[in-house]
Amino acid sequence: MSLVTGEVKKQIEKRRTFAIISHPDAGKTTLTEKFLLYGGAINQAGSVKGKATAKHAVSDWMEIEKERGISVTSSVLQFNYGGYCINILDTPGHQDFSEDTYRTLMAADSAVMVIDASKGVEAQTRKLFKVCTMRHIPIFTFINKMDREAMDTFELLDDIETELGIATCPVNWPIGSGKEFLGVYERAEKVVELFSDTRKGTIQGEVKKVSLSSPELSGLMSEEQRSRLMEETELLDGAGAEFDQELVSKGELSPVFFGSALTNFGVETFLQHFLKMTTSPLPRMSDKGMIDPMEEEAFSAFVFKIQANMNKAHRDRIAFMRICSGSFDAGMDVYHMQGGKKVRLSQPQQLMASERKMVEKAYGGDIIGVFDPGIFSIGDTLTTSAERFSYEGIPTFAPEHFARVRQVDTMKRKQFIKGINQIAQEGAIQIFQEFNTGMEEIIVGVVGVLQFDVLKYRLENEYNVEIRMDNLPYEYIRWIENPDIDVAKITGTSDMKRVKDLKGRPLLLFVNEWSIRMTQDRNNGLILAEFAK
Ligand code: G4P
Repeated sequence: MSLVTGEVKKQIEKRRTFAIISHPDAGKTTLTEKFLLYGGAINQAGSVKGKATAKHAVSDWMEIEKERGISVTSSVLQFNYGGYCINILDTPGHQDFSEDTYRTLMAADSAVMVIDASKGVEAQTRKLFKVCTMRHIPIFTFINKMDREAMDTFELLDDIETELGIATCPVNWPIGSGKEFLGVYERAEKVVELFSDTRKGTIQGEVKKVSLSSPELSGLMSEEQRSRLMEETELLDGAGAEFDQELVSKGELSPVFFGSALTNFGVETFLQHFLKMTTSPLPRMSDKGMIDPMEEEAFSAFVFKIQANMNKAHRDRIAFMRICSGSFDAGMDVYHMQGGKKVRLSQPQQLMASERKMVEKAYGGDIIGVFDPGIFSIGDTLTTSAERFSYEGIPTFAPEHFARVRQVDTMKRKQFIKGINQIAQEGAIQIFQEFNTGMEEIIVGVVGVLQFDVLKYRLENEYNVEIRMDNLPYEYIRWIENPDIDVAKITGTSDMKRVKDLKGRPLLLFVNEWSIRMTQDRNNGLILAEFAK
């Protein structure tokens, strides 16, 4: 390894690759659209398709594929702003929720969490957040919809701290909310950014900032608002909620911003601070130690997602990879570690809103999708480095819904097994078996229930196999980490189930957390893990 220099270094340094997470309806799409406005990537947020469909205008580009019944993809949007090259990884929400959502977070260097100011932390945010904290990546909070009645600000912060277990540091502080929303107080600059709802879908017009002592502000602010602001900021300063870049970088402190994505208020301020506080592409762990994009000249990437296309004639698949070091040129040959041979990365694509465009050149930090003739698996490493290495695998995330699946026509056993195994390899579902049965009955586990429909649809359409699915009551899964354990000897609860995964690893299924605790209590030394490594 030597130090990376020149154009590649410059390009990688200016990259900022982050995931945007939220509970559905918190305003993730709206905020993303506003970001794109600043990047000049679109002219007017939501204007292309009119209000009713604005929601799906930019980042929900996989809607059509969803209608066709395949797994919902997270999209990647790239744009330039203020000298940075930004990659936003969008994570699908509610019913679209799947393992893909989790895996997308594995490809990001930081995360932006959007929270609805009237609701605080919601279920989906909590789930996604777990993965962010597991990776210790920086997390930024944008508290949205301040133009509506909001929860008390301290309560909101408290909610984040207790629900998510991360300290917060408000970079700005709201003055009122809803009809009384006056703007935000920038703590470092000691100025108030005045709220205006006239910008909405544009970036025209100036953002007005006035000092706290200006007569203009006195005219706008009631005495009550002023004394409340003073009181609250004093409390904040006293509580030591100071900005600390080191803690932010370790993912232990989340800088918090307030705004209103819909009216485009606070978005640019957020973007500017965020880009400075977040990180350029991070080093990644491999079996040869950390690979730092600033030290490793060779191209390297790992596959974090595989998207099968519904074109039945071709059955083509796209493998999405995160470039971790070096640069990529269209059509280049790279070594596929897991396959043990050289492959040509053909038809490289980058995604921008509803378009896929061919890429000629990409750098560490970027995400590309390449044609996959069926050779890649999630977690695979590709590199041009003479000293071969593999990136640390992507953990298998715990499914939360389970069903027993069997083929209707017993003559179709071969197709059933082939289909279900291939779909499991793509990572859309996880399959489990009981210890003493064959493949005729399989337990399928999914992260989001939509994946059950996807499975049924794909088996019928791609493999011509009709299946029967019976839902099972399990909601929790734990891999057994003790080596050489006799699974039959574990004393569990009556509703616990012993199964093995595709790799033959033993695990337990539970209906509730109480059962997990009971089992743990009854078996001294039993090591249960939520993620398979
Ligand atoms: P999501 O991607 O997180 O699911 O949320 P999305 O941006 O689609 O926003 C959900 C709804 O919240 C949308 O309203 C959107 O206009 C609204 N919204 C987003 N940001 C703000 C904000 O800062 N203030 C207010 N008041 N509303 C906001 P909708 O009625 O569902 O859709 P639409 O008809 O307005 O497009």
